[in-house]
Amino acid sequence: MRRWRKKRRIFKSKVRIKAKKRVLKEEKITQGVSPLVEKYWLQRYDLFWRYDEGIKLDEEGWFSVTPEEIAVGHAQRCTGAGVVIDCFAGVGGNAIQFARVCDHVVAIDIDPEKVALAMNNAKVYGVEDHIDFVVGDFFQLAPSLKGDVLFLSPPWGGPSYKMTKKFTLDSLKPKDGHSMFQVAQKITPHIIMYLPRNVDLLEVEQLSWLSSPPLDIEIEGNTVRGHLKAITVYFGDAAITQLCLPQTLSGAACKVCI
Ligand SMILES: C[S@@+](CC[C@H](N)C(=O)[O-])C[C@H]1O[C@@H](n2cnc3c(N)ncnc32)[C@H](O)[C@@H]1O
Repeated sequence: MRRWRKKRRIFKSKVRIKAKKRVLKEEKITQGVSPLVEKYWLQRYDLFWRYDEGIKLDEEGWFSVTPEEIAVGHAQRCTGAGVVIDCFAGVGGNAIQFARVCDHVVAIDIDPEKVALAMNNAKVYGVEDHIDFVVGDFFQLAPSLKGDVLFLSPPWGGPSYKMTKKFTLDSLKPKDGHSMFQVAQKITPHIIMYLPRNVDLLEVEQLSWLSSPPLDIEIEGNTVRGHLKAITVYFGDAAITQLCLPQTLSGAACKVCI
């Protein structure tokens, strides 16, 4: 019995030493990463599986990029679609995944640095030739845009969005969610919105009533490692739940089905 207790003590202390070593190793690696970003850096492979191959992010990019598993899910819904417009493309988390399964992506961001980072990251994934990168204000460009699916991943106002119990659509930046949706609808009714997990779902549902007849709508919770990270809302044909449509949104034969 005593020998068994001694063995257990040794085992426990070995586990403690291993954990301590792991923490020290992580601390050593995170030196040079700003404290604001550290938390996100530790999740770097959830953000980009190919992080080590040359992915680059700026500070805003770290906390605003869509985790890759979620971006893959968004893209799967659009498999075979003609043109997807990513209106707030950031460092390219979504645009890259859309480019892997759709004919073409238009990736817009108002910040030239973000567009440069998105271009770099698209090269890492080998999809840069399928993306048109545009530096510009989505709202100014909107009247001239044409596409089959519109993806809206606007700024949520930084990590402080978590502080409120219910995130209302008027807290979205740079314009409130209703105005944004109305602008988007003029381009196509097939819209995907990526929103905070605490968004007011009643308000979200009301967006579909802005059309007559109301648009089909589907609301999806997005988890990473079992934690709810965000909400995605699919409108129009994007709300059809099959992964692969027999006819794509643009009417062309789906690349995956044929
Ligand atoms: C939440 S981030 C997008 C993250 C992106 N989905 C990704 O995975 O990398 C929102 C982006 O919108 C951009 N933005 C803000 N106002 C904009 C505008 N009026 N037009 C286009 N982009 C804008 C910001 O520069 C920021 O990069």
